[in-house]
Amino acid sequence: MTSRKPIKKAVFPVAGLGTRFLPATKAIPKEMLPIIDRPLIQYAVDEAREAGIEQMIFVTGRGKSAIVEHFDIAFELEATMRERGKGLSILDSSRATPGDIITVRQQVPMGLGHAIWCARAIVGDDPFAIFLPDELMIGTPGCMKQMVEAYNEVGGNLISVLEVPMEEVSSYGVIDPGETRGALTEVKGLVEKPARDKAPSNKIISGRYILQPEVMRTLEGQDKGAGGEIQLTDAMAKMIGHQPFHAVTFAGRRFDCGSKTGFVEATLALALEREDMGEEVRAIAQRLLG
Ligand code: UTP
Repeated sequence: MTSRKPIKKAVFPVAGLGTRFLPATKAIPKEMLPIIDRPLIQYAVDEAREAGIEQMIFVTGRGKSAIVEHFDIAFELEATMRERGKGLSILDSSRATPGDIITVRQQVPMGLGHAIWCARAIVGDDPFAIFLPDELMIGTPGCMKQMVEAYNEVGGNLISVLEVPMEEVSSYGVIDPGETRGALTEVKGLVEKPARDKAPSNKIISGRYILQPEVMRTLEGQDKGAGGEIQLTDAMAKMIGHQPFHAVTFAGRRFDCGSKTGFVEATLALALEREDMGEEVRAIAQRLLG
């Protein structure tokens, strides 16, 4: 195994408007919507920490300050809980190590690619991870840990992919696959939302990436793509052939919590698995279905 520059930084683009969840997301960021009792952003940050990432870079916008507050110390809350003899361990994972959360602003939501580009000064010359917090990835080990392990083997750029039924591919970014070895597939090309009969595979890009810093320069000069937005997929596609590019098929489950039905599915799936409520939720679900 060759030694690679380790992945210590992660970018979390959280400046989107979350229009699919209006009016819930009018005053609350989509990334703060909870799956049971943890906001989406918390799942993503926990996954990053598990993968050894230390610096969390949030690309935020107006009305998103609750995300940063969430990782602060809630002084009054903690003092009151202490007075009442309540344990504070429930808050542990929401307290950031001082200095490990950095925010940059994306003033206008011009697309995912543009959001990533807004973090260029903090990313500097280091390879970095990207997490789309509305895609909830559940696995042991977590998705990013699986990717970091693959990165230690092959280096370069990596994206996580999942296989979906062919009739669903046209809603996603899809890879043109080369050689496959275990969970690793060489990426020869990327196509955004292909027609079913033109799709090069059924492996869709899910919301985790490890990219080399050169992607920032590619994003810099990039024109708007689909939907009038600066697309990350277009910038990544330009790097193929110049740098190693692989897909990692995620061994685990992905929930698209950016859509309402995906959000409900995630809530139900995780609730059914919880020791403190699984049985009760199962009984409720059975009653509702019956
Ligand atoms: P989405 O495509 O899910 O967009 O963005 P959205 O605005 O969050 O939600 P809808 O479609 O209006 O309901 C994927 C991720 O990229 C971020 C979002 O915050 C989300 O985490 N994003 C998107 C930005 O940070 N900036 C952008 O300009 C666009």
